Amino acid sequence: MLELRDLHKRFGGFSAVAGVSLELPKGSIMAIIGPNGAGKSTLFNLITGHIPPSAGQVLLAGRDITGAPPYEICRLGVGRSFQRTNIFPHLSVFECIQAALIAHHRMGRNFWRRSETLYRTETLALLRSLGLADKADSPAGALSHGNQKQIELGIALASDPEILLLDEPTAGMSAVETHETIDLIARIARERRLTLLFTEHDMEVVFSIAQSIGVLHQGRLIALGAPEAVRADPEVRRVYLGERE
Ligand SMILES: Nc1ncnc2c1ncn2[C@@H]1O[C@H](COP(=O)(O)OP(=O)(O)OP(=O)(O)O)[C@@H](O)[C@H]1O
Ligand SMILES: [Mg+2]
Repeated sequence: MLELRDLHKRFGGFSAVAGVSLELPKGSIMAIIGPNGAGKSTLFNLITGHIPPSAGQVLLAGRDITGAPPYEICRLGVGRSFQRTNIFPHLSVFECIQAALIAHHRMGRNFWRRSETLYRTETLALLRSLGLADKADSPAGALSHGNQKQIELGIALASDPEILLLDEPTAGMSAVETHETIDLIARIARERRLTLLFTEHDMEVVFSIAQSIGVLHQGRLIALGAPEAVRADPEVRRVYLGERE
């Protein structure tokens, strides 16, 4: 579904991503882990077109999308959420999701239809699936951090992606919120048969849902494989897991 070939990103003389190659089969769930500054967010930005790679290729279902703009890559079925929460705090929860659905269906310029009637059913269905239906009328900014991250997930899902990239989906959450969010992501991934690539610092989360794990260290993948093999890898233990124990 997604293939990275020898992907590089240099910022001046500094290599943030230094030759990453991997394949993500359709329907699989992969975690990218690594210490702060390892290059995880940069790697996601290269995949989604938010920054152009210095070298290498990104292929989506065999098609070369390297250097394509973010809206084009989104349209081709790659959805994402960001490490920092990124919602409109003054819109209601309903409006946040509705706006994302309207944007996806390019109805924004259809000004002679009353916008609040657009995609009402779809918005409510998505809110129900996120467990946010009872908060539809609250201002998004008034919700808990965990709920705000769930709105972001909803915004990413509004474009009906085939691949979902989540950059630290449980960052800053309490243990309870983290569990709920992971259950939610796992359920939605299953229901929609999504291919999922995510970054995460919480190892319990990583080992509970990832089918494969890539370990990024100084822009390079130092390990890639099944969770048990990665957990047992001596270099991974030394540079990453060991560091946090
Ligand atoms: N636009 C940029 N210009 C210069 N350097 C950058 C830029 N973006 C990222 N970097 C550097 O690239 C390296 C990788 O950053 P990145 O944000 O990808 O790490 P990360 O693995 O996501 O870290 P974290 O776990 O803290 O989110 C860091 O050293 C960072 O300072
Ligand atoms: Mg990051």
